[in-house]
Amino acid sequence: MKNIMFIAPPAAGKGTQAELVVEKYHIPHISTGDILREISKEDSEIGEYVRETMASGKLVKDEITYQLIEERLNKDDCKNGFIIDGFPRNLDQAIEYDKILEKLGYEIGNVILIDIDKNTLEKRITGRRLCENCNAIYNINDKNNTPKVESVCDICGGKLYQRSDDNLEAFATRYTTYLEKTEPIIEHYKEKGVLKTVDGNDTVENIFNKIDEIIK
Ligand code: AP5
Repeated sequence: MKNIMFIAPPAAGKGTQAELVVEKYHIPHISTGDILREISKEDSEIGEYVRETMASGKLVKDEITYQLIEERLNKDDCKNGFIIDGFPRNLDQAIEYDKILEKLGYEIGNVILIDIDKNTLEKRITGRRLCENCNAIYNINDKNNTPKVESVCDICGGKLYQRSDDNLEAFATRYTTYLEKTEPIIEHYKEKGVLKTVDGNDTVENIFNKIDEIIK
């Protein structure tokens, strides 16, 4: 199947939709945010740099992302398609990504823009909770998406936590960064004729159905 890339502002539902694609199509989900969150747990200079940068809502240095993306895409499980989420995040990263794809012999595939209002994002950001064990995503501001037992994952019983950048102050930085640095890459993919847009101000199920139509 074709590779999939999600472009969307913070908390637009990239991770939520990626989980559903993985469930249906059994392709790997590559999220630079998830990979960097693992690095941020390391007791090292780079761990500390990534931890502090992510908590502030700014982007980490491009060079850090290039190596980790190339290494991850070079693994065998990516040969039959993958979903990439959180990368590229600016024009330099988009140009580097084109080079990495060419080097590894992959196509860009479908680039899916999840278009969504800022007000919706603010509501989602403060309510998000994640399982520290299986990464399942919940939202305590949404009665259809709260865990059955407070702070406990329905799926694996793991403990739920709130991300250090899920507060309105860091969100403001993340959203401005999205507008200034990430939105310009939309034009890059429009020119290549691979961009598809879905409305993110909808239910998880309706959005997934639209994404699934694109994939099919
Ligand atoms: P990253 O982890 O990529 O965060 P993000 O882009 O800000 O996106 P999020 O993970 O916040 O949101 P999402 O769209 O996945 O939403 P979700 O599905 O969880 O990046 C974090 C940081 O890492 C960056 O700020 C940067 O520092 C660094 N970084 C990462 N990549 C980088 C790169 N390439 N270069 C440099 N730095 C990089 O949904 C959100 C909430 O809404 C959840 O609670 C969910 O349950 C709920 N929800 C989802 N969909 C719906 C719906 N349709 N209706 C109701 N609720 C919904």
